Amino acid sequence: MNENLAPLSGASLPRQEARREAGDPKRGSAKTRVLVIGPYLTDKAAAYAPGDLPLRSREARMDEAVGLAGAIDVEIVGQEIVALTQIRPATYLGKGKVEELAEKIREAEAELVAVDCALSPVQQRNLEKAFGAKVIDRTGLILEIFGERARTAEGALQVELAHLTYQKSRLVRSWTHLERQRGGFGFLGGPGETQIETDRRLIQERMNRIERDLETVKKTRGLHRKSRRDVPFPIVALVGYTNAGKSTLFNRLTKAEVFAKDLLFATLDPTLRGLKLPHGGKVILSDTVGFISDLPHMLVSAFRATLEEVQEADVILHVRDIAHEDAEAQSADVEKILGELDVDIHDHSRLIEVWNKIDLLPVEERERLKARAARRAEDERAYAVSAISGEGLDELLAAIEARLARGRPVLSLRLDAGDGEGQAWLYAHTEVLSRQSDEDGHAFFDVRVAPEQQDRVLRRFPGATA
Ligand code: GTP
Repeated sequence: MNENLAPLSGASLPRQEARREAGDPKRGSAKTRVLVIGPYLTDKAAAYAPGDLPLRSREARMDEAVGLAGAIDVEIVGQEIVALTQIRPATYLGKGKVEELAEKIREAEAELVAVDCALSPVQQRNLEKAFGAKVIDRTGLILEIFGERARTAEGALQVELAHLTYQKSRLVRSWTHLERQRGGFGFLGGPGETQIETDRRLIQERMNRIERDLETVKKTRGLHRKSRRDVPFPIVALVGYTNAGKSTLFNRLTKAEVFAKDLLFATLDPTLRGLKLPHGGKVILSDTVGFISDLPHMLVSAFRATLEEVQEADVILHVRDIAHEDAEAQSADVEKILGELDVDIHDHSRLIEVWNKIDLLPVEERERLKARAARRAEDERAYAVSAISGEGLDELLAAIEARLARGRPVLSLRLDAGDGEGQAWLYAHTEVLSRQSDEDGHAFFDVRVAPEQQDRVLRRFPGATA
């Protein structure tokens, strides 16, 4: 992450501070010891708390929180689920619980406490005082991960922007970081301007600059996309809950080595690769960032750009970890976010569900699932696969091909002998399905074209017939 943007205030990780402040290489290289707390409202209380997801079991939410914390380079020294009946304005948790946890934190020698909820700045500060440790909430944690994983210029800028928005909302008096960073800029902060006002203004200025940079990056990206659109291949986008197996499937299908690890958010920026379908059709496969529950809204918009591929895709594969106990809730989350990206989740000509990780299920259940997937109406059919063993992938590829062929007309045409230019044009702008020639050297082509390209082909080859 950009050093200037090392998380500030409460979101700041001791590991980074230790490195900066102590100048002690040993201290700096040790992994931060983290205790994860899952303060979850009891089902009864949750019924009155909009935004909370009573659907999901507490244990599953805790697993996800531990997974999130593990996605940054830290050592997890403990985890605690806390059943809440109400949220306290000052500390989120009840007083007795705070004391009990403080004791555990001391015992575990935890330097950082990751609390799986959205804390107000005041709650965060009060907990830090009570725990004697840094506290990071869910949004802060996700921002950390995004910051570590953003791979493109645009991704990095989007994360920085989201981070600044987060920081701006939690500017409090004890904010010492910017002061330190500012060091040389003694001229900043006119007379009468309070520290907080100055800090806020500095952040706003930085945000304005990033927004301008983003505009430039987006324009170039738009140009790239346009040139890709000229390529006659349809785009197939992989979406899904984090850890559903998108990168593994992407690699398996394209036999490419992309950053696939048992880490959440291994993929932040869309990765594109060409892929050949069984009957020779080519598509561009696009891997995307994984979704999670309760994705802070400010992050949804920050990552919209990285998900633009999805909006444009001809086919969207919704990859699901069907062996996960929370598979249904995860699916609902993904569909909700797709909806926010203006994707019609009922458009089955575009959306295909992929039930991944069937190898993890007992044989009987696996067979039952496959039967259930196949029983669905033709259009809504799901595909049960294993990205690891390869089971079911041939059917999936055939389904993608069939889905794509539906909306794309096939044209037949004849080229004169020696029309090398015409041939080159066809290969560049259409998907050539077959080519034959007669004794006179005429070449006969069957080509599939994107609907928006059909007129162009007919103009270039007026003799073409559908
Ligand atoms: P994000 O990048 O976080 O969104 O994750 P992802 O959806 O790209 O998941 P990824 O491909 O990184 O896989 C997550 C974990 O699931 C890895 O440990 C994979 O090895 C494992 N995995 C993926 N597909 C399968 C599968 O079909 N079977 C089994 N058993 N494990 C799988």
